[in-house]
Amino acid sequence: MKVAVLGASGQLGNDVAAAFAAQGHAVTSFTHEQFEVASLESVRSALENVRPELVVNTAAFHHVEKCEAEPALSFAVNGMGARNVAQITDSLRAALIHISTDYVFDGAKRAPYIEDDLANPLNVYGNTKLSGEHFVRSINPRHFVVRVSAIYGENPCRAKGGLNFVEQMLKLSREREELRVVDDEFVTPTPAMEIALQLVELGRSSHYGLYHATAEGSCSWYEFAAAIFELTGTKVRLERARPGEFPAKVPRPKYSVLENAALKSRGLNVFTHWQDGLARYLAKRQAPAAVMST
Ligand SMILES: NC(=O)c1ccc[n+]([C@@H]2O[C@H](COP(=O)([O-])OP(=O)(O)OC[C@H]3O[C@@H](n4cnc5c(N)ncnc54)[C@H](OP(=O)(O)O)[C@@H]3O)[C@@H](O)[C@H]2O)c1
Repeated sequence: MKVAVLGASGQLGNDVAAAFAAQGHAVTSFTHEQFEVASLESVRSALENVRPELVVNTAAFHHVEKCEAEPALSFAVNGMGARNVAQITDSLRAALIHISTDYVFDGAKRAPYIEDDLANPLNVYGNTKLSGEHFVRSINPRHFVVRVSAIYGENPCRAKGGLNFVEQMLKLSREREELRVVDDEFVTPTPAMEIALQLVELGRSSHYGLYHATAEGSCSWYEFAAAIFELTGTKVRLERARPGEFPAKVPRPKYSVLENAALKSRGLNVFTHWQDGLARYLAKRQAPAAVMST
């Protein structure tokens, strides 16, 4: 397949491009320097040159606090940007995998969300991502709208500027004797490469629709930190933050665990438990670099 990856310098986009290329697909990558998702003409000229059969759109404005401060820009990128990609892919008769988020939910369910659950975003980021989902689902019938959660990977999340949660915890453990981490926000940490492999599976099917795509199980950020330290043998005093100790500047769901109901019902789910994904990530991270000899 001819595949175009939008947002290819990002945490997920990098791994998506690598995963499709590893399966022998012809991948063309577009970074923000090469196109502007908020501009229909820019999306058109990028994609019309390539004429892909499948486009994966990972581009987003997703720094939650900045989105809250800049709702118009957030809607331009996450809402109209998705609409632009949907419109151009539809005109090219290309399929579209569009990445969305667990933050479309408010967290009140306190049990894993399935695709049919009602979305009710708490903040500008979640609202604008939900608007993007609606554009994609109503414009291009060959769509896969894929909600993901709490990504970490080899490449840093550009929006968050720097280290992923795993690397941040390991860095802080070297700098401090005690770490305090929130224990009242529940997610499913998922490695970027495992999402990318799932997208390859999905992209070669024609089971279009709305999907949740995260690892199995769930944990609080405190529990995630505890698992990181246990698996790496890191000695640091880890404490649960007191309620209200780190007040969120922007409302966020306290519970955004997703159930991959649609993937499972179609026999497409490739994810394992989040602890297995973490162990694989850490093993790869600690593996010595291969030495080339001439
Ligand atoms: N990270 C998470 O934990 C998480 C959780 C749930 C959902 N998601 C979703 O997953 C997707 C990928 O996230 P990620 O972690 O890979 O984020 P990321 O590292 O910030 O990557 C996003 C990419 O989009 C590009 N981009 C931003 N604005 C753009 C614009 N106006 N036009 C063109 N490109 C633009 C960025 O380039 P520049 O940096 O150069 O602007 C970057 O390469 C997003 O849709 C996000 O909403 C992420």
